[in-house]
Amino acid sequence: MDAISVIRTKRDRGRLDDAQIDWVVDAYTRGEVADEQMSALAMAILLNGMDRAEIARWTAAMIASGERMDFSALPRPTADKHSTGGVGDKITLPLAPLVAACGAAVPQLSGRGLGHTGGTLDKLESVPGWRASLSNEEMLDVLREVGAVICAAGEGLAPADRRLYALRDVTGTVEAIPLIASSIMSKKIAEGTGALVLDVKVGSGAFMKNLGDARELARTMVGLGTDHGVRTVALLTDMSTPLGLTAGNALEVRESVEVLAGGGPADVVELTLALAREMLDAAGLADADPARALADGSAMDHWRRMITAQGGDPDAPLPTARERHTVTAASSGVLTGLDAYAVGVAAWRLGAGRARKEDPVQAGAGVELHAKPGDRVTAGAPLLTLHTDTPERFDYALRALADGAVEIAGTPGAASHEPPPLILDRIA
Ligand code: URA
Repeated sequence: MDAISVIRTKRDRGRLDDAQIDWVVDAYTRGEVADEQMSALAMAILLNGMDRAEIARWTAAMIASGERMDFSALPRPTADKHSTGGVGDKITLPLAPLVAACGAAVPQLSGRGLGHTGGTLDKLESVPGWRASLSNEEMLDVLREVGAVICAAGEGLAPADRRLYALRDVTGTVEAIPLIASSIMSKKIAEGTGALVLDVKVGSGAFMKNLGDARELARTMVGLGTDHGVRTVALLTDMSTPLGLTAGNALEVRESVEVLAGGGPADVVELTLALAREMLDAAGLADADPARALADGSAMDHWRRMITAQGGDPDAPLPTARERHTVTAASSGVLTGLDAYAVGVAAWRLGAGRARKEDPVQAGAGVELHAKPGDRVTAGAPLLTLHTDTPERFDYALRALADGAVEIAGTPGAASHEPPPLILDRIA
């Protein structure tokens, strides 16, 4: 077998057979297929697609490139959630302890942010002392003792994906549905969860900009999970505007703690509860009541224990940025749009995100929203607060927010704008 013949097959719109897929994924992981060859193949896949059997085989080959975890010794059923990534998406933070409080074990292997979408590990690292890297034994101990763990995926899990994702990131091939689906599902299946709920984001702040592509991605991932014996469900959720009222690391931790304390923005609470119900249902715990676990403090108790078990101090003050800048509403009326992508880029430029994976992030940087689409705003009143340690970045962030990122419809006679529903579809 050789890389050139595999590339030519896909370049010429053929289908890759099992032997070609097994060979190319394995040879790339071992360094025998060069990055430039794999990037040509990834581009051919992006342009010409893969059928369901090819995607299934590609996913199986990525799983086989590394180790598989086993949670069968745990006394509780396991359930995990994966979001395809958005702006202000802090849902994992309240969700994992909430679902644990309802009786499931939540092994939440998470990632860092790149570009305009934030990463769960970056957010949690703003909690003083908190540690993302755990050995497999430590992870199992936290799962056993607390019921929820949020940590970095170990090096041994789907190593083919780690190499391939880094390559796709710099070759314009992230957006291929077969590659996104196999990347996400190889890690989740290798992780060994029994149930999986996918939050497939749709809109300007997401990979999937329209509902049709998001449905195709969700169906592909649900099919892969089901074929591997993982009870998998997907919710398609709106990402045309940021989730909640904050985008940035410590800002989002603060908002998550508000949700765990029984408050927080309505959309964050709604999505946290909807995903919790799906996870509990898929884990065979349909009778559990996540709304009660939020209200009675048991979800908060699990959060505190989870943070403490990973070296964090849940009582320590969260870092705040040194400088703030307020953006005010240019006119009075109904806020009809606040673009998720623009806010994500602004938060990133303020220092909340990174451009290259080795860059540091600022814990306190980000964007705070004072209104959401559908709210009435008044000319001159605060609309956004920008936070950063490096004020020279304000201009850079403000440029991201210019040109249509904020839409206000004039009050007299203006049709009031109904924001899209948060949950757009469910695929099982
Ligand atoms: N997240 C992943 O893990 N992989 C992708 O390809 C895209 C998003």
